[in-house]
Amino acid sequence: MECRDGNLVAFIERSVAKYGTGRENLLPVLRDVNEEFGYVSGAAFIEISRLMDISIGEIHGVASFYSFINEENKGNYIIRLCKTISCDMAGKDKIEKTLERELGIKFGESTKDGLFALEYANCMGLCDKGPAMLVNSQLYDSLTPESVLDVISEYRRNIR
Ligand code: FES
Repeated sequence: MECRDGNLVAFIERSVAKYGTGRENLLPVLRDVNEEFGYVSGAAFIEISRLMDISIGEIHGVASFYSFINEENKGNYIIRLCKTISCDMAGKDKIEKTLERELGIKFGESTKDGLFALEYANCMGLCDKGPAMLVNSQLYDSLTPESVLDVISEYRRNIR
């Protein structure tokens, strides 16, 4: 049993108050929690379930449908590179290699300090602006090896 985290509970209470308790507001609440904490923990599921009167199974169903909702704490910044065909043809491979070299990890892994994780994702709807990636919920398009290094540097600066 996870203990109740006061910050988490207060944050979810504010988010639910902002959007309302209707089922249609589940995704915005999940997105808020994901952005604030980097993932939606089991404790968050319990609080959302309690406050919105939605079963944990249903919350899990919605959370697992959307790849930008994390259900585990993989890293502060989860980088998801689009692997679908338009981005592939636009130079996804160069971005993939640049990210792996810069972070010293392969896709599917997290850095030792837990700050970055690399994953693949499916089409994000930016096919005419590929290669595209998400860092947590922030979209980046028209990536080049140089611009992706700038993105990583920016996040490293944020951490310090
Ligand atoms: S194929 Fe990459 S965003 Fe659509």
